Amino acid sequence: MQKIGFDQLELNPFTVIGNDNFLLTAGGMSDWNTMTAGWGGLGYIWNEPAAFVFVRKERYTLSFLERSDIFTLSFFPPEKKSALTFCGTTTGRDTDKATGAGITPVQLDGGVAFDEANLVMTCRKIAETVLDDDALIDESIKSFYPLGDWHRMFIGRILGVYIN
Ligand SMILES: Cc1cc2nc3c(=O)[nH]c(=O)nc-3n(C[C@H](O)[C@H](O)[C@H](O)COP(=O)(O)O)c2cc1C
Repeated sequence: MQKIGFDQLELNPFTVIGNDNFLLTAGGMSDWNTMTAGWGGLGYIWNEPAAFVFVRKERYTLSFLERSDIFTLSFFPPEKKSALTFCGTTTGRDTDKATGAGITPVQLDGGVAFDEANLVMTCRKIAETVLDDDALIDESIKSFYPLGDWHRMFIGRILGVYIN
């Protein structure tokens, strides 16, 4: 992985996040979990580049995010789409996602990302909140949460951007 500057990154966040999706990973090399995420954001807050991720409470990955200072976003080339499908349809509670998805964990900035990714962002967790009934202004959005399984939002300060 080669580290690049924030100003060298060229991508369309709408397609790369909303269409291609990414793996959201938290934990350390000996104990991590990853899940596919299709909602998220890249931007700027508190004078630093930041990533925004949204995780429902039933995700096993949530417990790793809660315990970890570092999380990572791993983006993959189109031929690894099956890895994203696998990690978005199985749970780390009962599945070895690295073996099942054919991905190789690597340590980066104290977090875990994947060797097969073509773009990785490492993040330090700096804020979180829950997007619950009180937070949602547009009533129509509430239809996404028939069970009240609100998303938690985590904001990460981006520590490094790496390309492969
Ligand atoms: C394309 C796709 C995008 C997804 N995006 C999200 C997301 O942004 N947030 C979320 O909480 N779950 C999302 N999911 C669902 C999780 O990836 C899925 O529930 C996964 O099995 C959770 O794994 P875990 O229990 O090991 O954490 C997505 C699933 C797919 C297939």
